[in-house]
Amino acid sequence: MSVPTTSAAQKSAVFDAAKVRADFPILQELVRGKPLVYLDSAASTQKPRQVIETIDRYYRAENANIHRGVYYLSELATSKYEAARETVRRFLNAASTKEIIFTSGTTDSINLVAHSFGRAFVNEGDEIIISAMEHHSNIVPWQMLAEDRGAKIKVIPMNDAGELQLDALEGLFSSRTRLVAIVSVSNSLGTVNPVEDIIEMAHSQQVPVLLDAAQAVAHAPLDVQALDCDFLAFSAHKIFGPTGVGVLYGKQELLEQIPPYKGGGDMIREVTFEKTTYSELPSRFEAGTPNIAGVIGLGAALDYVESIGREQISTYEADLLAYGEAKLAAIDGVRIIGTASQKAGAISFVLEDVHPHDVGTFLDRQGVAIRVGHHCTQPVMDRFNIPATSRASIALYNEKSDYDALVEGLDEIIKVFRG
Ligand code: ALA
Repeated sequence: MSVPTTSAAQKSAVFDAAKVRADFPILQELVRGKPLVYLDSAASTQKPRQVIETIDRYYRAENANIHRGVYYLSELATSKYEAARETVRRFLNAASTKEIIFTSGTTDSINLVAHSFGRAFVNEGDEIIISAMEHHSNIVPWQMLAEDRGAKIKVIPMNDAGELQLDALEGLFSSRTRLVAIVSVSNSLGTVNPVEDIIEMAHSQQVPVLLDAAQAVAHAPLDVQALDCDFLAFSAHKIFGPTGVGVLYGKQELLEQIPPYKGGGDMIREVTFEKTTYSELPSRFEAGTPNIAGVIGLGAALDYVESIGREQISTYEADLLAYGEAKLAAIDGVRIIGTASQKAGAISFVLEDVHPHDVGTFLDRQGVAIRVGHHCTQPVMDRFNIPATSRASIALYNEKSDYDALVEGLDEIIKVFRG
């Protein structure tokens, strides 16, 4: 084993928060006359100038449709779009760019699998396993499929800490289980799920696994070959890229066995009125003109994250999250919802006697942006017997002072509401 030199070790440990913040122009803005404290990255992350400038340059100097033109701009746009596919492949450590499908986001990616995998493999009486902490986007598509095919949804329960009960998962498998679809990191609880164990359990039953990595992708390294997941979905806008674009990773052997999701231009080999044949992977899953600027912007976002280092981001954020959790837990009347031993990104909480919507509205007046509500996870709220939570979520540009501002705001709310 080689021991790193001091300078190499120091270099890899450096995370310069001030330098990172300077890359995000919106963090210099005043909101309601106050410096912006942005604690809603689980909903959508802010964008660095490297991404903004890439998209700006694309529309100013590179814009044309792709895969269709024989002229300079079309070839340029095509090469940039396909270069972004290679960037995503490298970022996920996928075996081939054939396994990288561009979609409009995580929701679209999951719907693609529900529709296409569902048509190929799910029949009456078959079962899909999801978990008690799924986002609606990893519940509703399976319910629609189940209704259509006469299939059944089974749910892995969770404990009071917001951790999945894997001992119960064992008993959910049957000879009719066709897929496990599971969230890597919960958007409303912050729980980091033991997806490696879940994948191992599912594969021992010959069941493939889809990971919803929307909340995981910006916070820690992700390696689809090491994980051995069969499908993985994420959105660009949750990792400093633009909205309206995302990725479905799928193992080539599986993608080759499932029918296209949408029909249209660019996904065909030959069309006659009698019969259509489809093109190869990945284009047969990318009907119509895609979000070209968005895909190129996503490539820039992933390059940006890699230039900082995912291990460094993960270490920095773990320390930050622990700080925030300790500060919030110390407030009289705050109850943290989701106390799993492994967490990332988000802290959900309720403040005694104050509705989360009042918390959110009051904090907004202080320039502090958090999300309040059910976070598109109504079953999670039901599990904890609450209507909503307040959620503070971070990304690599947050600092301890952001949590300090949140706590100051909460102290003010408590003064007002408790007289
Ligand atoms: N899924 C996003 C969130 O958790 C929108 O806020």
